[in-house]
Amino acid sequence: MKKEKAETGNFENLLSQIGAGLDQFQKFEHQDALHPDKTWRKALDGPLPANGVGIEKVTEILLEKIIPNGSPVGKPGFTSFITTGATTASTLATTAASIASPQRYLGTAFNFIEELSLKWLAEMCGVKTMEGVYSSGGSVANLIALGAARQSAFEKIGVDPAADGLSRKVSIYASQECHHTIQRSGGVLGLGRRAIKRIACDREGRMKVDALLCAIEEDRQAGILPMAIVANAGTTNTGAIDPLLAIGKIAQKNSIWFHIDGAYGLPGILDDRIQELYHGLELADSVIVDPHKWLGASVGIAATFVKDRELLLRAFTQEPADYLEGSVDQMTEGSPIVEHSLDDFGIPYFDYGVELSAPCRGIVMWAMLKEIGTEGMRQRIKRHNDMAQQIAQFTREHPQLELLIEPTLSICCFRYTDDRVADLDSLNQKLHRQLVRENQYMPSTTRVNGKLALRPCYVGAQHEQPQADELLAAVLRIGSNLAAELFV
Ligand SMILES: Cc1ncc(COP(=O)(O)O)c(C=O)c1O
Repeated sequence: MKKEKAETGNFENLLSQIGAGLDQFQKFEHQDALHPDKTWRKALDGPLPANGVGIEKVTEILLEKIIPNGSPVGKPGFTSFITTGATTASTLATTAASIASPQRYLGTAFNFIEELSLKWLAEMCGVKTMEGVYSSGGSVANLIALGAARQSAFEKIGVDPAADGLSRKVSIYASQECHHTIQRSGGVLGLGRRAIKRIACDREGRMKVDALLCAIEEDRQAGILPMAIVANAGTTNTGAIDPLLAIGKIAQKNSIWFHIDGAYGLPGILDDRIQELYHGLELADSVIVDPHKWLGASVGIAATFVKDRELLLRAFTQEPADYLEGSVDQMTEGSPIVEHSLDDFGIPYFDYGVELSAPCRGIVMWAMLKEIGTEGMRQRIKRHNDMAQQIAQFTREHPQLELLIEPTLSICCFRYTDDRVADLDSLNQKLHRQLVRENQYMPSTTRVNGKLALRPCYVGAQHEQPQADELLAAVLRIGSNLAAELFV
């Protein structure tokens, strides 16, 4: 059947069908997408379609072949990534925005909520006085923050790096545990990946302040400009939080930009039992947090907060474009009465980062906070931190388990041990493969102080306390079977 005209409506009917398929998917009763027969691959593969099959058929294929072969990331036992399955509020808001406001600019309710939700998010995360911009993820959010740092450092020596490029070698100091997107930011910003000086950590995964001071001094003597210090509020590997206050004071004393990567861990500030670890946040020049990590948003949402958003404007502004500027009556003071959303770009987020076209992400944050409030978020975060502590406590007391680092947030790194086994890394690697194949409990692995660790990371709204006990039971069962096989 030839179909040449694309549907642009019929949402009530089609979205309810997709909704039913998604509810079924969320039961996780289907096989894993990589089950051996892989029939879905054969069914989906095919040549470029010259003639369309129509929306009903597309819906049918989505429901029958694609959704059931989706990813396990939202499964309750999946704890490998620091992203998670989206909550219902996030999914509804994403869908609504994709239809009702396909762009975040123009002075609509969505543009308004973009700003309102940034304010709410900043307040919830203890950076109330900062202004923000959303982007697609922690990688881009860090890039934007370090773009602001670059602008600030070079402006202080009379150079506009965004306009004229770089005139000096600079350094960014970040711990050995920093996320590898910091190095990529160095590359993208023209500073060079090697501009990132990796500062040693203590055994708890926190940046060593003495080593930081030495690195800054060394650079000064070599004529290199110290541009920024990046501290972690929740490392990816273990959830460690760097000594923010001490690092912030060093940054302040040396006039160096202080950036905090809180992509994962910033919302941990909601847990009053660990709030003091966040002292020093007030000294930050920029901070990032990813709502798509610990807050339950669909993937594609991060926020960068800075003290001075004008700096972002200078770092990222685009040159005017004839096709845009002339079509919108830019609001200026004393401008005529605004009568249409095309009279106003709204807040120009496209000049505060690296994206022009971008979805409305604030509506997702707004919906999630409106649904359960900060108290709901706080309860979830405390529950996840409790789960990590629950594993740690059990591990400390069990002769066959070893806690590899004290958990700070919702990650717990531990391993199975057996005195008779020389290569515990290999045993735990096998144990992990077996866990994954069983397809119920899927932590990741990482290395902690040289040892291979099992690393469950609890961030999903679907992560509940009993899953921690169930994971431990599975680890003990598989571990003892593997060890027994070695000694038959
Ligand atoms: C601390 C930290 N920063 C940055 C990132 C990059 O974030 P994204 O994957 O959203 O780009 C991650 C990802 O896990 C992270 O844990």
